[in-house]
Amino acid sequence: MVGMSPESVATESTVEVLTVEPTRRQPTLAEDVAAGFRRQPKSLPPKYFYDERGSALFDRICDTPEYYQTRTEDGLLSDCAEAVLQRARPDHVIELGSGTSRKTRRLLDACQRLGVAPRYWPFDVCREVVEQAGAELMAAYPWLGVTGLVGDYHAGLDALPAPPGRRLYVFLGGTLGNFPASESIAFLRELRGCMGDDDALLLGVDRVKPAGVLEAAYDDAAGITAAFNLNLLSVLNRELQADFPLESFSHRAVYNGTDAQIEMYLEARRDLQVRIDALNEVHTFHAGERMLTEISRKFTPRSIEHELAAAGFGVETAFEPADGYFSLVLARPRG
Ligand code: SAH
Ligand code: AVI
Repeated sequence: MVGMSPESVATESTVEVLTVEPTRRQPTLAEDVAAGFRRQPKSLPPKYFYDERGSALFDRICDTPEYYQTRTEDGLLSDCAEAVLQRARPDHVIELGSGTSRKTRRLLDACQRLGVAPRYWPFDVCREVVEQAGAELMAAYPWLGVTGLVGDYHAGLDALPAPPGRRLYVFLGGTLGNFPASESIAFLRELRGCMGDDDALLLGVDRVKPAGVLEAAYDDAAGITAAFNLNLLSVLNRELQADFPLESFSHRAVYNGTDAQIEMYLEARRDLQVRIDALNEVHTFHAGERMLTEISRKFTPRSIEHELAAAGFGVETAFEPADGYFSLVLARPRG
């Protein structure tokens, strides 16, 4: 398969795991930090949240009462999985940013009911989560063939395997909302370029709703989202030999209604200086200064359709709950 490194088959977990080689160079963590800290406000890309601890924290966020997304999407998937499978009739399910693949089980349950057995290809930047999720799924669904894929989806999708047969690409959880609009359209276009005429995309996106509901979802009372946000500083301390004092930063989540996005920040509690040995740099934070760590864009049915259309997709069916809190969209390549 194109783009696979020859030594990339890992057998430890009995799940075949392939490394998806980058097709274009991506900045390293050090380069992203150096560039991000020169911006105003300072900012960092969200993919660095997901070391092993960050992935586990995200999984715990999904169980907080405030984070309605996971249970809403899970319920929607339970209701519409059979319809999706009957329309897409996939030989392969390729999931981008699959994480623990917990909601994907609703699709696999429906496969079982319908007596179909597509191969499952979870693709994530976090190797540990792919290995563990793959092993758990193979144990839970003995008929299921799994090939794990590890790589960075921003580094190009050309090297993704394109197995023969119909493919259903799945991108759940509202993760598309973590990309700025221009990157999101470029990413969807690239995905469209990997797809054959008979392939389909199942996309989960979060919807615009009252600011209070959104802000609570990103600032849960148990402090899991705060720990997830602060974990980014632990990643920098470990990977770049930095000395961020975690207790000197606070988690902030604000809804920017103009841009229809949640913005997550780490706010300095006092004036401080941080040394980053790997960059040989010292950075100053002033008390109250905010560093942007994530955006999470929220959609309307119209904005979803526009973004997909701009990338060469047409909406075949859209599923939503009665409260309109989330959308699952089955889209097809157009033209
Ligand atoms: N789809 C799951 C997980 C969403 S969390 C759900 O809906 O619950 C976002 C996932 O995307 C994480 O598992 C994270 O590791 C992965 N991810 C983030 N940036 C990525 C990148 N650049 N390339 C591949 N995966 C990425
Ligand atoms: C993965 N992504 C869709 C989550 C979101 O809701 O934007 C990440 C997250 N950040 C804080 N809580 C959850």
